[in-house]
Amino acid sequence: MFSRIAPRYDFLNHLLSFSLDRIWRRRTARKFGHILARPGARALDLCCGTGDLTLALWKEAKREGKVGARVVGSDFAHPMLTLARKKFAVEGPQEYVEADALNLPFTNASFDLVTAAFGFRNLANYEAGLREIFRVLRPGGKVGILEFTDPKSSFVGSIYRFYLQRIVPHVGGVISGSHAAYSYLPVSVSKFPSAEELTGLMTKCGFADSRFELWTMRTVALHTGRRE
Ligand SMILES: C[S@@+](CC[C@H](N)C(=O)[O-])C[C@H]1O[C@@H](n2cnc3c(N)ncnc32)[C@H](O)[C@@H]1O
Repeated sequence: MFSRIAPRYDFLNHLLSFSLDRIWRRRTARKFGHILARPGARALDLCCGTGDLTLALWKEAKREGKVGARVVGSDFAHPMLTLARKKFAVEGPQEYVEADALNLPFTNASFDLVTAAFGFRNLANYEAGLREIFRVLRPGGKVGILEFTDPKSSFVGSIYRFYLQRIVPHVGGVISGSHAAYSYLPVSVSKFPSAEELTGLMTKCGFADSRFELWTMRTVALHTGRRE
């Protein structure tokens, strides 16, 4: 499904989010600026798709001429990685690994930061995903999971659900040619654990300081945690 929508993926992301997706990714990268600024640190962007968060992490690492962290992108959809490689061929993150987030080809404790933007929700098993992230993090390393979340408020919530369930599948389906992919989006968001539930699961999987912050009228959550 992700391979099929890859060619129109970026365009639709920016269109359907009114370009807020760019702000969310930049904000996520800034949140981990203290790790990314460290020379010798390693950051992994899971489910990186066409690499927009990977690029935001890379830019943060290189800000003000710093050497910064090494940034690696990883995804299991080959066409997504091909687009990321082409997009950043001249300047940007250069390392991409084709891999399943549930079975990463990295040794234990090899990253200081693991992120995932709008990808974690798609994993077949969230607990297994969190345990795999925990495994590849070094002690003291941090995780950042950016995901859609259902706003509880009835007013914003009803507009959000109308937009996600009625407008997104239609516009996304017509432009990408895959109605299935953009109908899957609202279904996957509604089935995804609440921000509180995901925080509980992160704690269960061993993350310390598991917490979340809600952005843009509580429609998006950044989940963070630390491997002790
Ligand atoms: C909605 S896209 C998000 C892409 C990117 N992170 C962004 O912010 O635009 C979800 C991505 O997760 C990837 N993905 C889903 N399940 C995966 C898995 N089990 N292992 C690796 N990648 C996966 C898909 O291939 C897709 O590129």
